[in-house]
Amino acid sequence: MTGLLVQLNKSTNMRKVIYRQFGDESVLEVTEQAVPGIEKDQLLIRVKAVSINPLDWKVYGGEMKLMSGSTFPKSVGIDFSGIVEQTGSAVTRFTAGDAVIGVLDVFKGGALADFLVVKESDIAPKPANISFEKAAALPVTGLSAIQIIDQLAAVSANQEVLINGATGGIGVFAVQIAKKRGARVTAVVSTKGVAEAAKWGADTVIDYTKQDIKLLNRRFDAVIDLSTTLSFNQAKILMKPKAVFVTTLPSPLTLIYSFVNNLISGQKLKVLIVKPTIEGLNTLTNLAEAGLQIVLDKTYSFTNVRDAYREARRGKLIGKSVIVLD
Ligand SMILES: NC(=O)c1ccc[n+]([C@@H]2O[C@H](COP(=O)([O-])OP(=O)(O)OC[C@H]3O[C@@H](n4cnc5c(N)ncnc54)[C@H](OP(=O)(O)O)[C@@H]3O)[C@@H](O)[C@H]2O)c1
Repeated sequence: MTGLLVQLNKSTNMRKVIYRQFGDESVLEVTEQAVPGIEKDQLLIRVKAVSINPLDWKVYGGEMKLMSGSTFPKSVGIDFSGIVEQTGSAVTRFTAGDAVIGVLDVFKGGALADFLVVKESDIAPKPANISFEKAAALPVTGLSAIQIIDQLAAVSANQEVLINGATGGIGVFAVQIAKKRGARVTAVVSTKGVAEAAKWGADTVIDYTKQDIKLLNRRFDAVIDLSTTLSFNQAKILMKPKAVFVTTLPSPLTLIYSFVNNLISGQKLKVLIVKPTIEGLNTLTNLAEAGLQIVLDKTYSFTNVRDAYREARRGKLIGKSVIVLD
């Protein structure tokens, strides 16, 4: 790793994490680059914190090269919190000094830098009541949770919802939002997360290291798999006749299969493809201001980027890890 560059000229230069080939965390390097300029519909953001998502290592590991392409260098970091440094002349919703949260193109990244360039549609006001570290943990997993609970599973009051992988980035929010919709939530977690999931409101908590959920003698209106360990076919035994199964693993085959299945079967297969929107980001800001719990497992400094991703990839986190720009 190049490390912190000693004579960084902070007025014109910045640090940015890039990689020049697919691989594990050893491909990540901190480089010095010119602070980018903006066009009239763009804003320059001084980044305060960036969250770590499993999507990051799937992209830099080359698992998603069909979508990301194979040209280098590439950048890392999808969601962030920061402060508006400069606005283009056509920008109307924000001014310099505003605190914001935002999300970049999943396959291009670029948030792991001292500065980044966005359009107004990529950002929303930072919730006033939380730190920049917690705010950075909201966008990707929060938007995913809203999309899963409100759109894909369309969870409503008194429904029985099973969330498999309930202490991860999406799970923490999915449990809380499903409870807000009035559902009864069964959270599936490893031993470390049992007490935590109950704190976020889960009605029943199952430790998957002690109990095989496929042997549960129960049926749910929605089965949400955030762990990528449960297939639609395996989930059917847990589903009511008109239940929904949500997977977070999109593939062309799954999308085709779900289209055909959903025409002929009462048990639906829904696939998450997270779509960042201004409305979604604003909803997250409102939820956070209304008390949505944001759980941080660890925070890292910019110079420990490789360790941060390595440890996050090993799993067993409660909530999210965040890299703080110092
Ligand atoms: N398609 C999209 O648009 C999209 C968008 C965002 C995220 N995603 C994907 O969605 C998935 C979830 O994201 P995330 O940020 O919530 O990931 P995460 O933080 O890694 O959470 C995954 C959770 O699964 C749990 N888990 C692991 N093995 C399990 C098992 N056998 N049974 C039950 N739970 C188990 C983990 O718990 P322990 O670590 O305690 O075992 C962890 O809490 C990831 O694969 C991510 O890449 C997809």
